Amino acid sequence: MLKIVTLNDATLAYYDAGQGPPMLFLHGFPLDHTMWRGQLDALADKFRVIAPDLRGFGRSSVTPGTVTMAQHAADCSALLFALGIGNAAVCALSMGGYVAWQLLRQRRWRVERLILCDTRAVADTPEGAAGRHKMADQVLREGSRVAAMLMLPKLFAERTARDQPAVIDQTRETMLANQPEGIAASQRGMAEREDARPLLATINKPTLLIVGQEDQISTVEEMTGMAAAIPGAELFVVPGAGHMAPLEAPAAVNAKIRAFMTS
Ligand code: MLT
Repeated sequence: MLKIVTLNDATLAYYDAGQGPPMLFLHGFPLDHTMWRGQLDALADKFRVIAPDLRGFGRSSVTPGTVTMAQHAADCSALLFALGIGNAAVCALSMGGYVAWQLLRQRRWRVERLILCDTRAVADTPEGAAGRHKMADQVLREGSRVAAMLMLPKLFAERTARDQPAVIDQTRETMLANQPEGIAASQRGMAEREDARPLLATINKPTLLIVGQEDQISTVEEMTGMAAAIPGAELFVVPGAGHMAPLEAPAAVNAKIRAFMTS
C-alpha cells in the first residue's frame, strides 16, 4: 500500500509490501512507482519491496526549479533511514539509474546489490542538456502532455505496442497525472548529472544489468559496454522489450531478478 514519509523539505509517497531482504525500486522519467507494478506484488512473496514516487512525481511533493540526482539520492537514503533499513538491493530504471549512481557516490553503504535496468552512464552532451532545458520550458508552458508526446514513442518495443496497448495507455496516464513543475525540475536535474563512467570500475557490489533488446535510449550495445566495465557484472537482454523492459516483460525480468537476488 502507498504510505507517506515526511522529509526535511518534502513528502515522499512510497509503496511498501512484503517481508524479507529489502529491495528499493527507483522509477524512470517522467513516471512514478507504478511502473514497477509487474515486479512489486510478484516479488513481495520473498522480499520487502519499497518503491518511492521520487520528489516531483506521483503523490510525492513537488519542488519547483531543479531537482538534481543527488537530491533524489538523498531522499532515498532518508527514506531508508526513516524505515530503519540500513542497506537494500537497489533496482533502478533509466533516470532511477542516474539516482543509483549518486547513491553509490554519496552513500555506497546503502547499496547491498545493484540491478540496473535500461540506463546509461554517460552524461549529456551540451546539445542533449540544452534539449532537456527546452523540453522543461515547454512542459511548464504547455503542460505534462508535452512530456508524454515526446517520451512515449521512444519507450516501448513494437511487440508491446501490438500486444499490450493497455500498458502504453497506463504509462501515458501516469505521465499526464504528473505535475509540469515536477517533470521540469527532474529534467533540469538530469541535464546537470555527471559522467558515471569513471564509477563503473569501482562498483564492488553484485550487479545485474537488464536491457530490452529494442531499447532505443539505452541500447544493448551501450549496456554491454557498461556491463564489461563493472567487475563481475551480469547482463540480461530481454527479447521483445524496449526501454521499459520490466514493465513490458515482467515474467522474464522477475525470473532473472529472483535468480540474481538468491545467487
Ligand atoms: C527515463 O526513462 O528515465 C529517461 O529516458 C531518462 C532520460 O531522459 O535520460
